[in-house]
Amino acid sequence: MSQLILGIESSCDETGVALVRAGAAQTEAPTLLAHALHSQVEMHQAYGGVVPELASRDHIRRVLPLTEAVLRDAGAQLSEIDVVAYTQGPGLAGALLVGAGVACALAAALDRPVLGVHHLEGHLLSPFLSADPPQFPFVALLVSGGHTQLMRVDGVGRYGLLGETIDDAAGEAFDKSAKLLGLGYPGGPALARLAEDGDPAAFKLPRPLLHSRDLDFSFAGLKTAVLTQANRLGAGLQERRADLAASTQEAIVEVLVRKTLAALAQTGLERVVVAGGVGANRRLRERLDAACRARGVRVHYPELHLCTDNGAMIAMVAAMRLQAGLEQARADYRFEVRPR
Ligand code: KG4
Ligand code: ZN
Repeated sequence: MSQLILGIESSCDETGVALVRAGAAQTEAPTLLAHALHSQVEMHQAYGGVVPELASRDHIRRVLPLTEAVLRDAGAQLSEIDVVAYTQGPGLAGALLVGAGVACALAAALDRPVLGVHHLEGHLLSPFLSADPPQFPFVALLVSGGHTQLMRVDGVGRYGLLGETIDDAAGEAFDKSAKLLGLGYPGGPALARLAEDGDPAAFKLPRPLLHSRDLDFSFAGLKTAVLTQANRLGAGLQERRADLAASTQEAIVEVLVRKTLAALAQTGLERVVVAGGVGANRRLRERLDAACRARGVRVHYPELHLCTDNGAMIAMVAAMRLQAGLEQARADYRFEVRPR
């Protein structure tokens, strides 16, 4: 039997646990057997953002019950687990320590090896959890709360950075603009929802670095422009909120789409993978799909519920890295997390 991998994600405000069966042969795709997720969104909502201390405590409460649920769903026993994988970083230090500590403790008790996984590689490979996974090579647009990167991906572990944000991430631009519009946390989905009723051309907002020759991004100026517009509107903001939300979303989406097209042109590749929380954005999907269809380029997304943080992507990375022979899981339970 091929290896059974337990994956634990606890880098921010979701506790995710999953079981993945690695492929028997190197070329056989791993399969997701079960996964469970607990989002802390409601808990942090009252504070307008993630409170690290509360996040850590909640991960502690959730991680073992979720592990039990996953084993039950998969019809597996704890003793059948061959490798325990966990998110090593980046993320909140205290939150990461919970997942790492539990993973190492479980592995030690089971006398099995552990494997630390890079959270962004999790997002990057999450489309491989879908029924119609991409083929290498591809251009990856990684858009999360903390990162905005374009990458050339030639295989598991073969990643080349093409460009990245020089200041705020795309998710951060969504979140900060949402805050300025008086929307709660998490801002991205709330802003996207409000934007559905707005006119994306209502406000002229900057598209930073749109015409720069490189593949870098800059979103810090956008939030300043949104603030300026909001101040100018004053009491009239309430009435124009949907328009300002739609215009903000449009500015972010346009830059992401244009730069992705530029990355395709530069690399000559014909496939795109979009990953990370912002990949759930409907407008981004619409515009990127349309632009890529016109160029005969195929776009892959993770399944919607696997766009944001989850344990399945962590177990998947472990399976793919082990299968590719890139990794030796260690039976050494001293662990380290890498918040940055
Ligand atoms: O990948 P992720 O779950 O966590 C990180 O690793 O950062 O991404 C979270 C980010 C947040 O900034 C959130 O506002 C954004 O993804 N996000 C969205 C949408 N859903 C999540 N942004 C725009 N539209 C959405 N539908
Ligand atoms: Zn993430």
